[in-house]
Amino acid sequence: MMTHIPCIETIAGFRSVLEEARSRGATVGLVPTMGALHEGHLALIRKACSENDFVAVSIFVNPTQFGAGEVRETYPRDLQRDLKLAGSAGADLVFGPPVEEMYPKGFSTWVEVEGLTQGLCGASRPGHFRGVCTVVAKLFNICRPDRAYFGEKDAQQLAVIKKMVSDLDIPLAIVPCPTVRESDGLALSSRNVRLSPEARAQAPVLYRALSAALTLVENGERDARRLNDEICAVLAEADLAKIDYVEIVDADDLVPVDVLAGPCLIALAVWFGKTRLIDNITVEA
Ligand code: PAJ
Repeated sequence: MMTHIPCIETIAGFRSVLEEARSRGATVGLVPTMGALHEGHLALIRKACSENDFVAVSIFVNPTQFGAGEVRETYPRDLQRDLKLAGSAGADLVFGPPVEEMYPKGFSTWVEVEGLTQGLCGASRPGHFRGVCTVVAKLFNICRPDRAYFGEKDAQQLAVIKKMVSDLDIPLAIVPCPTVRESDGLALSSRNVRLSPEARAQAPVLYRALSAALTLVENGERDARRLNDEICAVLAEADLAKIDYVEIVDADDLVPVDVLAGPCLIALAVWFGKTRLIDNITVEA
């Protein structure tokens, strides 16, 4: 299999390759990313390849989803490595536009999903989901894929994108993909490389805390406060971990629940120094 695939930088160029593919009757899958590809991204690409004839991966470090003081300038970038990895996972093409291509001078239109973006990561990262939705809507309009692939690791992002697609009648299917983890349970993330060796050693505490909550739910616990207490107690075992939030919400509308009923999302965000890690699980009560 070819392992080094082309990277197209212009919207017009990307569109013409896709039009050619569609004219041959090919179905198109899109995997939006910010690069620094890891096994989590590659799992999305592989799934896309198993379900579509032509798969495009976008690599764009989207400036509008980073808040003031966030680390966009130092976001890890290695395009040559990414092209090889995306190619060996089976992708046909990378779309890697420069910032001016996506946000030309005078750009002034924003996509804002209300409600779902208020809590969880939306509360600590104001404007983040507006940037995500705007760039993803643009990618959908540019690429017009049949299917687009998103990781459950970013559960709120997935819910928000699904809502945007439904509210704006965007004609494509959103395909959720399970979280890929290291063998110690830590969810793969491009941020993991920023952890000090001590923080990296403690970071699996996120998944241990979620797993402890899952065990309680499986044993019949339905009280969100008691589950929350258990999660915080496990997180407290890691002295470098500072909790941003621990929330138990309805899996559909992301509204906090007091008593678990039906599918619920248990989500958390934890700081290790300047690095903020997120993780979540869905439990069926
Ligand atoms: P990025 O963080 O690069 O993630 C790209 C996609 O990979 C997202 O759908 C994310 O949920 C998924 N992903 C990341 N880590 C994963 C893991 N461990 N297991 C499974 N899937 C994982 O998310 C973004 O980029 C951006 O916000 C983007 C949607 C591209 C818009 O700019």
